[in-house]
Amino acid sequence: MTVKILIVDDEEMIRWTLKEGLECEGYEVKDFKDGRSFLEHFKRFGADIVFLDVRLPDSNGLDLLLEANKLEPEAIIIIMTAYGDVETAVTAMKRGAYDYLPKPYNLVEVNLMVHKIIQANIVKSQLHHFQERFETQFSRIIGENQKMKSLREEISIAAKADKTTVLIRGESGTGKELVARQIHFQSNRADKPFIDVNAAAVSGSLLESELFGHEKGAFTDAQKQKKGLFELANSGTLFLDEIGDLDMSLQVKLLRVLQERKFRRVGGTTDIHVDVRVISATNADLEKNIEEGRLRADLFYRLNIFSIKIPPLRERRSDILLLAKNFLDEFRKEFSKDISGFREDTIKIIENYDFPGNVRELRNIIERATLLESSNLIRPASLPEELKISSNLKESSLIFNDDVPWRSENFSFKEYIDSVEKRIVQEVLKETDNKKSKAAQMLGLTRFALRHQLKKHGIEDDDS
Ligand SMILES: Nc1ncnc2c1ncn2[C@@H]1O[C@H](COP(=O)(O)OP(=O)(O)OP(=O)(O)O)[C@@H](O)[C@H]1O
Ligand SMILES: [Mg+2]
Repeated sequence: MTVKILIVDDEEMIRWTLKEGLECEGYEVKDFKDGRSFLEHFKRFGADIVFLDVRLPDSNGLDLLLEANKLEPEAIIIIMTAYGDVETAVTAMKRGAYDYLPKPYNLVEVNLMVHKIIQANIVKSQLHHFQERFETQFSRIIGENQKMKSLREEISIAAKADKTTVLIRGESGTGKELVARQIHFQSNRADKPFIDVNAAAVSGSLLESELFGHEKGAFTDAQKQKKGLFELANSGTLFLDEIGDLDMSLQVKLLRVLQERKFRRVGGTTDIHVDVRVISATNADLEKNIEEGRLRADLFYRLNIFSIKIPPLRERRSDILLLAKNFLDEFRKEFSKDISGFREDTIKIIENYDFPGNVRELRNIIERATLLESSNLIRPASLPEELKISSNLKESSLIFNDDVPWRSENFSFKEYIDSVEKRIVQEVLKETDNKKSKAAQMLGLTRFALRHQLKKHGIEDDDS
């Protein structure tokens, strides 16, 4: 279950940026350009949080606020006001708005506002299902494998030491972000912000002003002073994702915050002190980055104080089915499908696959299969082709068994491939009752090419 957010504003640009920004955080967002369409939707489906503009083409946001409050007293409504319009803000609060958001707003502030709402105890007790949503969204790490049990212990140690810098390593899709969130929400900082930044997604100088903020006039576009994410994350956790891609100049600045817990805004002259726990994550080979001069060794040691390695899914195969079942459970509810489980042959295929994209890949595969499946068990036909091919290869005693043929002393590649060819041709002939044209078709060969195969392998050809 996800948090449902509605945006009501007649300006398309505002709707679009807000929607994009909030959707990136995993919320379910819908937008409306006038009061009528919003109310229609709200009456039928409700919402958890509403961002409501005051001046709408067909109504006034402050009146809509009253109406919406009557319909669903538990909904959290935030009024978007013009910058400096104190009067509207006061009226909104009196009429039961949860908060107000002055325009122009900063997306980070909006996200922070939403995070805080979700975390706030008052919300948890008002909407007890929020707690449940929160947990499904952020906290469920599935896995009973011994390696996952050790991982849980490491998470709980990291959560207790809430000033210690943590580095999470693991292949793509192994759950690094999930682990980072878990550490935060188990720690004493749980009711403070958890802010995540992707170092690979933003360029160097932009990232610097995102992280550390800037003073008015620090550069051409800096018309106002802006707080950086380190300030916004104060008392909470800052999650630096894809740390392997950090610019050299930023590395120096980051090192200083980690060592001295203070920094300066871009263009600033005074030190700002913060209490932020940094968790970073990467799937890059950081030791290699150091060797190649792309990562400062001193920064690496600072980041790597408590290191957590998440094993790839193929190294904890016993969890594959457990994860698959959990994801099926999640998606069958989401898509309202009557599917009770997996067919035996489907399980075999899934368990045989190596999942280069790890848990994320498994999750996507199950989501797709749940959508596609029309019977009440997931069948192999609903799985992507590559899983079936890879499973066939593994199952086939012709090509792979535990005692791989190329390790034997007098192994010859050519002879081996010849024997595989011969075996396949024989099997297909058997299957087609020796009908050459059918066999050629199954093999994707011309009749002439098939005859060549028969001759080459000394297989009897009754037609000749
Ligand atoms: N042990 C787990 N139990 C349940 N869900 C998991 C688990 N591990 C990962 N997931 C899910 O798999 C998806 C990928 O996880 P996440 O984004 O944390 O991976 P990541 O390591 O940060 O990936 P990337 O390197 O691509 O950024 C998410 O939907 C996450 O909820
Ligand atoms: Mg990630």
